[in-house]
Amino acid sequence: MTGTGKGIVVVGLQWGDEGKGKVTDLVGSQADYVVRYNGGDNAGHTVILDGETYALHSLPSGILNSRVTSVIGNGAVVDPQELTGELRTLRERGVHLGRLVISPLAHVTAPFHRLLDGVRETALRNGRIGTTGRGIGPTYVDKARRNGIRVQDLLDGPRLRVKVEANLRLTNRVLEQVYSQSSVDTEGMVDALLRCGEELRPFVDDAARLLNRALDDSATVLFEGGQATMLDVDHGTYPFVSSSNATAGGACTGSGVGPTRITRVIGVAKAYVTRVGSGPFPTEMTGKPGADGEKGDWLRHHGHELGVTTGRPRRTGWFDAVVSRYAAMVNGCSDMALTKLDVLTGLPSIPVCVAYDVRTREGWKRTRDLPVNSEEFASAKPVYDELPGWSEPIDGIANFAKLPVAARTYVENVEKLSDCAVSLIGTGAERESIIKRHMV
Ligand code: GDP
Ligand code: IMO
Ligand code: MG
Repeated sequence: MTGTGKGIVVVGLQWGDEGKGKVTDLVGSQADYVVRYNGGDNAGHTVILDGETYALHSLPSGILNSRVTSVIGNGAVVDPQELTGELRTLRERGVHLGRLVISPLAHVTAPFHRLLDGVRETALRNGRIGTTGRGIGPTYVDKARRNGIRVQDLLDGPRLRVKVEANLRLTNRVLEQVYSQSSVDTEGMVDALLRCGEELRPFVDDAARLLNRALDDSATVLFEGGQATMLDVDHGTYPFVSSSNATAGGACTGSGVGPTRITRVIGVAKAYVTRVGSGPFPTEMTGKPGADGEKGDWLRHHGHELGVTTGRPRRTGWFDAVVSRYAAMVNGCSDMALTKLDVLTGLPSIPVCVAYDVRTREGWKRTRDLPVNSEEFASAKPVYDELPGWSEPIDGIANFAKLPVAARTYVENVEKLSDCAVSLIGTGAERESIIKRHMV
């Protein structure tokens, strides 16, 4: 190992959609490589460039910068039809795309994975996870079960046919006998996958070697997490999670770059919290008795909180410092980006969750630490500190000192409660609407 390359991870600290795309775009403008290391087209990352909005799903946010090499690492999963479609759409919009490299080790989401995702969700009824329906879970199941299809298989017709047939011998039995569905036919599917394989062939290369060499040559590599800490299959709110390691450690396993190469971990958190899909969310504001449904609707409306991938309205709640402190810890964050502070403008006061009351076997207890027991977490009732609000618009402010005192106090409280320095603050959706503070 040589060189003084920089490895920077951008990771979500909540349940996704924190604004990672914008932060990656900003920090990535100084990067040579941007790598997606987990998840697939379940992600929806928004980047606004010259007034044009781009929603990226499979592709790293670096793809919009022609100077940057974008890499889809081995830990990510690729739906070849979606990926080729996304590339085509960007080209049609006249974007001068950067170079793309796809790891031959990345697993492939085939149409039957999507089918399995859908029928499993239906069968789970009230226990459904509320997945994006993109086949992510079943693709990672096949990876762990060791009968998955990988990007390298798309480049070799006979080998792909053998792998798909072997997989479908099991999958078709599951579809028919467990879910009472018709079986899936190999032929048309293999041909369609091979056509995509031909389109993707020029991009398939040994990504781990490329990135390590680049770091040896003092390059800057930015690792862009899909999903977020609380959706991580190990560290999130299991089973209401996605199926990959979104947390910073996933940047290493998902790219083939060792932990000693990571020099900075930027945790991205919204100034409030949103979640799509099911699962516990202690600070959520709903229409239920005792909750603050109207304020939840207000946040959803002001923050334009609609899913980029599925269009579903996002669930909304107040900033949860129990979650952010836990997430900063498991990711080893060096600093934080706090996005969408502008959305909170106009509130007379703003609650911030500083602890939970949780039901344990010994009775109710107050804690500042996120409970590892999922039932205790599901019982968590937020304990709030009320911080002063501000009424002056802060949209587009790029200097911390220009923020109203109450907004500065809010950021300083988030910083203290999360045990992590806030180095970037989002004051609007556009690229320039960001405050850069004590850069790490
Ligand atoms: P990601 O999945 O983490 O990349 O986030 P999404 O793109 O799904 O959702 C974040 C949304 O917030 C996008 O519509 C962004 O354009 C927008 N956004 C990001 N940062 C800011 C900010 O500081 N202020 C405002 N108002 N919008 C922001
Ligand atoms: P970005 O990268 C928000 C959620 C789904 C569901 C759970 C499992 O834009 O932040 P899956 O389809 O992955 O099996 O669904 O995870 N989910 C996301 N929520 N943002 C995302 O990505 C998400 N990707 C998955 O809503 O609750
Ligand atoms: Mg998103």
